[in-house]
Amino acid sequence: MILTCIEEKTLKTFGAGMAIAGCGSAAPAGVLTNDELAKVVDTSDEWIRTRTGIGQRHLTKPQETLSHLAVTAGQQALVMAGVEAESIDLVILATSTPDDLFGSASKIASLLGASRAVGFDVTAACSGFVFGLAIAAQFIRTGVYQRVLLIGADVLSRWVDWTDRGTCVLFGDGAGAVVCQASPEDRLLGFELYSDGSKNDCLTLSYQGQPRPVGEMAVAAGTYGAIAMNGREVYRFAVEKVPEVIEKALYRANLTAEQVDWLLLHQANQRIIEAVAERLGLPLERTISNLSQYGNTSAASIPLALDEAVRQGKIQPGQVVAASGFGAGL
Ligand code: ACO
Repeated sequence: MILTCIEEKTLKTFGAGMAIAGCGSAAPAGVLTNDELAKVVDTSDEWIRTRTGIGQRHLTKPQETLSHLAVTAGQQALVMAGVEAESIDLVILATSTPDDLFGSASKIASLLGASRAVGFDVTAACSGFVFGLAIAAQFIRTGVYQRVLLIGADVLSRWVDWTDRGTCVLFGDGAGAVVCQASPEDRLLGFELYSDGSKNDCLTLSYQGQPRPVGEMAVAAGTYGAIAMNGREVYRFAVEKVPEVIEKALYRANLTAEQVDWLLLHQANQRIIEAVAERLGLPLERTISNLSQYGNTSAASIPLALDEAVRQGKIQPGQVVAASGFGAGL
């Protein structure tokens, strides 16, 4: 890495602001309803709907890949933004379930035809998309890159324990993408990031190595376990911390909650969306929710819901959206 100070002139040249110019999304065609899931584990449509708001989830088939979903979402975002793939400087893939643990972003860039783009993955579970947005803003605001394709995509179905009714009812697969570009006006009005590693054990998808002899040595080889979650703790964390970080971000943006047109939270549980809206004093009509159709799609959930709301004409250009991700980390 070569480091030097950026000249003020450079900041002015590139406008030092960021705007979202287009969005897109994709979900696998395969759908599993609550009733179908109730044939596999001891649960019911009534329990799942009442406790979570979820009605069905889209699941990838064994031959389908995360890259395919991400490319479809990315293509749609490029079309809406009216920009060519070759004009993208950077592709950020927010995911916890890459097709390749070394990262899938650069392969996705190549499949999209973004031949000039640098690509890297960001792992921050269900918060990956909002963390990615903050990263994209740093590159654009400093004038390093002008156009970033940010994709949030996850296929958590690969890592769900389908015998654990406490988790398997929650998750689905999908992808969402946005084109972020340099703009004279900064449309990322403020952000706040927060992590509490002391609660890391509440939600894990951890490596489970088995000792394997290599010559005189023993190394660990193996695979990852399944998603394990303390649902009540994560729920408590979300309801307490999400309103707090949104209020801090609003303060940085010099805005009040009344000025928020849409509350766009990570789609984990309808009860969390309602509790956060209530804490912020926002009516339910100003919340975005597509949980009933997709369940929790992790890093994909915010851009997927954003894309649907934009295409339905709900979210209009220039409106104020308060978005918050939360989950593993915590
Ligand atoms: N069907 C039927 N009964 C169930 C099911 C099910 N699928 N799951 C749990 N139960 C039972 C439990 O066994 C328990 O029974 P008991 O009272 O006899 O012991 C009862 O229902 C209540 O269980 P709780 O776990 O207390 O249920 P709760 O109301 O807390 O809902 C839920 C569970 C939906 C998981 C909730 O805690 C939640 O949404 N937590 C937040 C999860 C989240 O937001 N994750 C986001 C991050 S994901 C990421 O980062 C990858």
